[in-house]
Amino acid sequence: MKIAIGCDHIVTDIKDKVVVFLKNKGHEVMDCGTYDCVRTHYPIYGRKVGVAVAKNKVDFGVCICGTGVGINVAAQKVKGVRGALVTDVQSAVYAKEQLNANLIGMGGRVVGIGTIEYILEAFIQAKYQPTPENKELIKKIDAMIGENDTITNDHIFDEFRKKWDEGFYHD
Ligand code: RB5
Repeated sequence: MKIAIGCDHIVTDIKDKVVVFLKNKGHEVMDCGTYDCVRTHYPIYGRKVGVAVAKNKVDFGVCICGTGVGINVAAQKVKGVRGALVTDVQSAVYAKEQLNANLIGMGGRVVGIGTIEYILEAFIQAKYQPTPENKELIKKIDAMIGENDTITNDHIFDEFRKKWDEGFYHD
C-alpha cells in the first residue's frame, strides 16, 4: 500500500520507526515530516497528510503527535478525510470495517511504538465491510464538511511559518 505519514517534533523518533516498520512490510511511504525535533506547528503536518489522502495520492494516512489529538483534529479539517484517533487495535479495526477510515491517528507518548505497530498492522489487514447502514452513516459524516480551500491553498500556514523562521516562537 501507499501510506502518508506525518508527525510533530515531539514524536519524530517514533514516526521514523513507523516509517521503517511500514517499509519493512513492503509498503511505500510518503513521509510528510516533520523530520527533526525542532519545535514546530502540528497543523502543518496534519494538513499535509490529509491533503495526500484527499487527493488520493495514498491509500491512507497516519498522523502521530504526543497525544495524537492535535495533529488529528487538524487532519480531519481536510475535506475527504475520515480519520480515527485510536489507542487500541479494536477501535482501529472498527474504523476501517465500519467507517472505511482513510486516516488513522495515534499518540506516540500515549501508546508507544509497539502498540502503534499492532494497530497499523490490524488497520492494514482489515477491510471495509459495507452495509446499507454504514454507507448512509459515511454519507452523512462526509456531508458535514463543506467546500473549503484547505486542499488547494498551500499558503494557509505562511503567516505561522514566517513567525517560526523569524524566531518569534520559542520554547
Ligand atoms: C506538543 O505540541 C503537543 O501538544 C502535541 O504533540 C500533541 O500532544 C497535541 O495534541
